[in-house]
Amino acid sequence: LARGALRPDLVGRHVVVSAGGTREPLDPVRYLGNRSSGRQGYALARAAVARGAEVTLVSANVELPDPAGVKVVRVETTGQLRDAVVGAAAAADAVVMAAAPADFRPVAVSEAKIKKAGDGSAPAIELEQNPDVLAEISHDRPRPGAVVVGFAAETGDDTGSVLDLARAKLARKGCDLLVVNDVSGGAVFGSADNQAVILGADGAEVDVPRGSKTALAHVVWDEVLRRFGG
Ligand code: CTP
Ligand code: CA
Repeated sequence: LARGALRPDLVGRHVVVSAGGTREPLDPVRYLGNRSSGRQGYALARAAVARGAEVTLVSANVELPDPAGVKVVRVETTGQLRDAVVGAAAAADAVVMAAAPADFRPVAVSEAKIKKAGDGSAPAIELEQNPDVLAEISHDRPRPGAVVVGFAAETGDDTGSVLDLARAKLARKGCDLLVVNDVSGGAVFGSADNQAVILGADGAEVDVPRGSKTALAHVVWDEVLRRFGG
């Protein structure tokens, strides 16, 4: 385990973690969603409790047992996740956005199940953007001095490397730390392991070798702890 594991160094701290993937309803039986398992967020919540923190876990569609000693708030959509995270953030020393919020939602949710047309045509579904929770928390800071952490899975493309894109995302979001997964060589979704670089708005760059999501969680809390004032 990472240095600091199981030391009660988060006693007296309240942290908010979001986990899982949000779902945006299309009709009573269908949704737009993503493959996030919630495992990294749950590992962060368990690690924080183990170190003595009071933890609120905003959980979006996760099929994992509730971690012991954690207040779990269940949400479905990005709008609900935003309200739960912003509400809890007012009393939090740190907010870690490990969830994968759906970026878009259907403009209209059909009250009735959408039926197939007899002529073989398919409906066009108009989407609009969801609120960006991490950017909002970072720019509005419900509690001044709180440490705000984002996650990003990047592949790199012709506009830049994984780290270039991640640095730009860190600046755009305005958070203090961004945990970056390089998913060029295949996705980490659902896997027990994780490998990451943690970028700081202060210029820090911490390489986290391939290891368990629990090990990564402890390094994230080490970096958060380092940034608490006082
Ligand atoms: N995030 C958020 N609200 C959203 C979308 C993302 O709070 N509506 C948070 C995620 O929880 C994560 C971070 O922002 O901590 C980065 O997510 P990512 O999907 O990489 O960022 P996007 O701005 O949505 O960029 P992209 O277009 O690459 O998906
Ligand atoms: Ca996104």
